[in-house]
Amino acid sequence: MQKIIINGGCPLNGSIHISGSKNAALPIMSACILTNDNLELSNIPNLDDVNTMSKVLSSLGVDVNKDNISENKMILCYKDSEQSIAEYDLVRKMRASILVLGPLLARKREAAVSLPGGCAIGDRPVDIHIEALQKLGAEFSLDQGYIKCKASKGLVGCKIDFPKISVGASENIIMAACLAKGESQINNIAIEPEVIDLVDCLKSMGAKIELTGNRTILVQGVDEMKGTSYSIIPDRIETLTYVIAGALTAENLLIKDINISHIQNVLDLLLKLNINVDVRSNEISIKKSLINESIELDTEEFPGFPTDLQAQMMVLMSLGKKKSIIRENIFENRFMHVSELNRMGGNIEISGKKAIIHPCENFLGAQVMATDLRASVSLVLAGLVANGETTLNRVYHLDRGYENIETKLQSCGADIKRI
Ligand code: EPZ
Repeated sequence: MQKIIINGGCPLNGSIHISGSKNAALPIMSACILTNDNLELSNIPNLDDVNTMSKVLSSLGVDVNKDNISENKMILCYKDSEQSIAEYDLVRKMRASILVLGPLLARKREAAVSLPGGCAIGDRPVDIHIEALQKLGAEFSLDQGYIKCKASKGLVGCKIDFPKISVGASENIIMAACLAKGESQINNIAIEPEVIDLVDCLKSMGAKIELTGNRTILVQGVDEMKGTSYSIIPDRIETLTYVIAGALTAENLLIKDINISHIQNVLDLLLKLNINVDVRSNEISIKKSLINESIELDTEEFPGFPTDLQAQMMVLMSLGKKKSIIRENIFENRFMHVSELNRMGGNIEISGKKAIIHPCENFLGAQVMATDLRASVSLVLAGLVANGETTLNRVYHLDRGYENIETKLQSCGADIKRI
């Protein structure tokens, strides 16, 4: 089991290139099932989750060419095959495997995907996915832990009102509706930049999609879709993770190849908190600066404060001058990092979905355990600024979502290594 060792206190100086977005790459990869042509992707991050999605797609008859993954390129081509079962041992590793359900139903009129099961941050049901696909004409059954579904007459477009905003369910239904008969009007969709990136890719594949504003989307079903070449947006959560790393311990950190409009909401908050951020067209420079006032934050669906940044922000708030609060409103158990941060000298209380963050002088290096992707990176951030040595175990969690994290940080002067 690999570990990451960090000796804290080294100021960050230099520049970091931001990779393509994991959460845009995963649904866009599964969109290859919607056509028999090549889907040529660039700016694909070389991550474990991308590799897992490649394996899931290969098991479904997709030819995945990763010869140029070192240049962040990939070519996917779906060869219609008998196989339409996404196996448990792959799906359990990554919940996003559920994103093959909509495209498979649209193309093959049947699919079987293992129920993804819960994960560290909550049980994460897929009921919203299922109910919406049923409205499009799919019949579902549960058989030995697999969701089995079929739409023998094909999917038929209709009006769908999501009872709750769900990123994955929005992506699944939009992809299914592309090949349904007739028009679908889908209300209360998620509008995260990753969902919009999927829509832009689908449109370049010939889908007829119109975002009419106010979380409503119109999809006019087409008979078939074609291949395309598409470049994935930069990863906004990786960007903001390094922005927080800079606020914690940078003399001068330049973060490059980013999309400012995807993170404007959080940048506005940081600027209001007098964090030393200098925003340019597609890069940001940031210097060490701590929060001096008491703040209350709620995680919300985009364009609100992202739940995927909650753990990282908690590290910065811990070194602030005043008591602050974060409420986690999206997932029911996304405070797994708190106990580990407290072992590093943090002083954070949990009360239901609220975390009360009391100021602490500084973090102290310790042996800590990673539990989920964003919790892991919050421990890296604390390690960068801590007094002493931090050893992070189970770094495979990190590798799911951060490309070359220790190389990127080493190049800016951090004392961090993987063993
Ligand atoms: C996506 O997960 C992201 N993953 C998550 O990022 C992100 O935290 C989440 O959206 C919220 O922004 C990918 O895009 C691959 P949801 P997803 O459906 O689609 C509940 C990371 O760290 N829900 O928007 O699974 C669900 O339990 C990961 O990169 C239902 O109840 O999130 C949660 O409480 C972590 N029924 C809430 O909705 C459903 O059918 C939001 O979930 C679906 C979801």
